[in-house]
Amino acid sequence: MKITAAEFVVSNSEISKCPAPDKPEYAFIGRSNVGKSSLINMLTNNKKLAKISGKPGKTQLINHFLINQYWYLVDLPGYGFAKIAKTQREKWERFVVDYILTRENLLNLFVLVDSRLPPQKIDLSFMEMLGENRIPFSIVFTKLDKLSSTKAQKALQAYKNEMLKVWESMPPIFSSSSVSGHGKEKILNYIEEINRTF
Ligand code: GTP
Ligand code: MG
Repeated sequence: MKITAAEFVVSNSEISKCPAPDKPEYAFIGRSNVGKSSLINMLTNNKKLAKISGKPGKTQLINHFLINQYWYLVDLPGYGFAKIAKTQREKWERFVVDYILTRENLLNLFVLVDSRLPPQKIDLSFMEMLGENRIPFSIVFTKLDKLSSTKAQKALQAYKNEMLKVWESMPPIFSSSSVSGHGKEKILNYIEEINRTF
């Protein structure tokens, strides 16, 4: 699939103000700074669509982007960022979790993990929460350009080994680089496949 049109629709912290749930929707989640907004820009060939920053905590709201007039990409705030006030953090973690658990047209959540890091507890427990709530998700290993292919292979295997201690089987796994564009075709084809089921 090729993306020929991508436009910003709305940002908010209330599910009731999100666009009507009448189109297929895909959201991106993961630790702050993992590259969620960058991946959305890479997939849509638009460096200015989602706001990115070298400092974690940039995306603070639920951001809807309409793609090819037919489906939504959603940029979410990251989790695990210590430097914002605890009360504020709890407030937005709540609305992000509410969004994930109640958004009826959310067909797949992409959980982004930094391919340079060993499996992080915060990501593993987040995915366990998704599993318990039967939220369909896949994993994207980001920033692949920062690793040699041997190291990337090893990191991926280590991640699988860790997850298979808890999971019976692995969810779909992708890898990406917002610098080289690696992963674009596979991720978009996967979305296209799921769109057909809507
Ligand atoms: P929050 O909105 O704060 O939760 O962060 P985010 O997950 O949206 O991350 P964002 O896309 O803003 O990127 C964070 C930093 O990582 C920026 O400096 C990006 O340029 C950098 N970055 C993101 N993706 C990649 C990638 O694939 N490769 C490299 N080398 N850098 C990346
Ligand atoms: Mg962001």
